[in-house]
Amino acid sequence: MNLSGKHVLVGITASIAAYKTATLVRLLIKSGAHVKVVMTPDSLHFIGALTLATLSKNPVYSEYFDPKTGEWSNHVELGKWADLFIIAPATSNTIAKMANGQCDNLLIATYLSSDCPVYIAPAMDLDMYQHPAFKNNLNKLVSFGNYIINSTSGELASGLLGEGRMEEPENILAFLQSFSADQPLKNKKVIITAGPTYEAIDPVRFIGNHSSGKMGYELAIAAESLGAEVVLISGPTHLEIPQRVEVIKVKSAEEMYRSVQMHQNSYDIAICAAAVADYRPIEVANQKIKKSSSTHQLNLIKNIDILKSLGDVKKTGQFLVGFALETQNELENALIKLQKKNLDLIVLNSLNDKGAGFGGNTNKVKLISSDNNIDELPLQTKNEVAQDILNKIIQLQS
Ligand code: PMT
Repeated sequence: MNLSGKHVLVGITASIAAYKTATLVRLLIKSGAHVKVVMTPDSLHFIGALTLATLSKNPVYSEYFDPKTGEWSNHVELGKWADLFIIAPATSNTIAKMANGQCDNLLIATYLSSDCPVYIAPAMDLDMYQHPAFKNNLNKLVSFGNYIINSTSGELASGLLGEGRMEEPENILAFLQSFSADQPLKNKKVIITAGPTYEAIDPVRFIGNHSSGKMGYELAIAAESLGAEVVLISGPTHLEIPQRVEVIKVKSAEEMYRSVQMHQNSYDIAICAAAVADYRPIEVANQKIKKSSSTHQLNLIKNIDILKSLGDVKKTGQFLVGFALETQNELENALIKLQKKNLDLIVLNSLNDKGAGFGGNTNKVKLISSDNNIDELPLQTKNEVAQDILNKIIQLQS
């Protein structure tokens, strides 16, 4: 989001991290935003209102009523003025009050009156950060549609080491800027497959592959930030569940297929980034297979091609994207998949390109549309690749 000209309301609560918010306000002003600051009364012990008023070029609000001037701070007006509201630092106490609508100060009243996107950057000691009561409250705020800017690990004010440090102001600014104001995918449903599938051999072994799920998860995060309703159907991964994304966890290709089928009539855009096993064992042994002879034969049967099944029943208006992971004759193979699976776009990545494909944080792809137009993208982070793929989809749909 370009913050130039935007009304940004900054909320400050009683944490030592409040000193960093002075830098955040400065960065917001530098990026062209109009900034107002609302503080809880206790936060004034950590940073002076004069500092923030000077940096924001606006009066600072902390009480409903100023006895000196007789002026009334209208929380409804403040809430409506804001295009976005960032609360940094947000203490466990304030987060609990926000989650429960406990309106005992101007900041909470403003939060409850605002209808703009709200971003929350928690700061607290590591035991508080881990406490289930805090986690529950934070999850509640996510379920209200608020955005969490996760705390980082490091040395805390208590001297302890661990999670709970407020994210650095530069990164908070980057987080706010990465959200799209235009929301071009608003009212669109996007389904994404991600990660590997595990095809059981016996209770302890499976056939799998090296997919980490990163590419698919980045697509889910990027689609959500563009306003889409996202359903992520994920094979086994160790990745954190993205905020405001419905995640369906599956293991095998068969389970992934059944979950995709549930959404095949209702999606607007489907992106299959999963590395689905092409074959599975015909029989799954009930007990662990014991080693006996020097060789062991597994009989495999073909899995259903999930992407092709979507292509076969694609309706007018639905947009279908596949990936092609190739090791030879890359372009030729990708073009065959594009056509055979009835796709609108195929994303080709080759294991011959350094930094592309499985596991890492980068990828190098070619985007090939159904009219055979090819966009060759440089080596980028998977986050950047995901944004480029979605921009291409939006461009092709308009
Ligand atoms: O997860 P990462 O570690 O971040 O790695 C990303 C990735 C390399 C897995 C990803 O970029 C990628 O290339 N995904 C597709 C991998 C793959 O299985 O490609 P394929 O060429 O074998 O399959 C072609 C397409 O058919 C893919 O969209 C695949 O999801 C789909 N498919 C394949 C077989 C099958 N049974 N069902 C399918 O839906």
